[in-house]
Amino acid sequence: MPPDTLRRVTIVEAVRWTDDGAGVRIIDQTRLPAECVARELRTVDDVCEAIAALRVRGAPAIGIAGAMGLVAALQPHADDPVDRFRWRAASYAERIAGTRPTAVNLPWAVGRLRRRLDAAQGDPPALLAELRAEAELVLAEDRAMCQRIGEHALPLVPDGARVLTHCNAGALATGGIGTALAPLYLAAALGRRIEVLVDETRPLLQGSRLTAWELSRAGIPVTVLTDGMAASLMAAGGVDLCIVGADRIAANGDVANKIGTLGVAILARHFGLPFYVAAPSSTLDPSLADGGGIPIEQRAAGEVVAGFGVRTAPDDVQVYNPAFDVTPAALVTAIVTDAGVFRAPYDFAALGSRPAALG
Ligand code: MRU
Repeated sequence: MPPDTLRRVTIVEAVRWTDDGAGVRIIDQTRLPAECVARELRTVDDVCEAIAALRVRGAPAIGIAGAMGLVAALQPHADDPVDRFRWRAASYAERIAGTRPTAVNLPWAVGRLRRRLDAAQGDPPALLAELRAEAELVLAEDRAMCQRIGEHALPLVPDGARVLTHCNAGALATGGIGTALAPLYLAAALGRRIEVLVDETRPLLQGSRLTAWELSRAGIPVTVLTDGMAASLMAAGGVDLCIVGADRIAANGDVANKIGTLGVAILARHFGLPFYVAAPSSTLDPSLADGGGIPIEQRAAGEVVAGFGVRTAPDDVQVYNPAFDVTPAALVTAIVTDAGVFRAPYDFAALGSRPAALG
């Protein structure tokens, strides 16, 4: 596909350097869709807070923000003695990589910088330059992987398709045009008439707040539904296919993604619909044989019972709030990566060997 194909579609840039190059500029996703405001991250506390609070979120985007954020946080320490600089870099890297447990992209990206630092020689300014170069690679590679995912998945999205997605696996979640949304952007740019059915995605509403926002902004028709409505829409024949992103994919093809994804996959199987997962190779975790070993982030009760400042349950109830679930490979029709479309039995060897994540 020619590089100017997307000219007609405006894609949002979720993470980039600040104008002075010393910090990371993110779109604060907690403020969307009411307002699109940028936030600058300059310290390790800024970076960890932004990732933990989901100001920047989505597996590839937190990897990119973590890597660039490590560089930004170390920038004021370029005058330190080299041993202290290395100690600080290791300690910041560990803090950032541990901020959210499920998406492997975060420890993977930060681990890349750690290994680059370990292999580098010189004084702190020279080491910082090495780290910056690696962070820029993480961003550029992710952008390119999104494009390739979109191209590989494009044949799965025919003209007229009604596509259901869950959570946000778009430009806001990556360094490029997204993963699950990448083929939708490309299909729209090619003039295919598609409609995107967006699960609201309880409890933090990444579907209605973020996916609906970025697709509408790009001029792509969107219908928002609450998560519980997907079954009736499928029963009514209103969905042609499902496509979602991923936070971590085990060696056997089990997929961790936003809570509620498993329900969509079960529904898709019941109604005979294709259920596709789109993810870059940075989301694969070959160290895990299956999804049973994927750490699932548990989040605060208030997100479920007092979301967005409105109390919606009595004070004295227990709350269950895992941020992710695991969809077994058996429910997945295909996994679309930057290296192509994979189907069961999964053999991701074509993606090459991949350095281990940090920690
Ligand atoms: O908690 P979030 O909003 O970071 O969860 C994000 C998701 O589950 C996305 O679907 C996933 O990270 C893929 S993003 C390309």
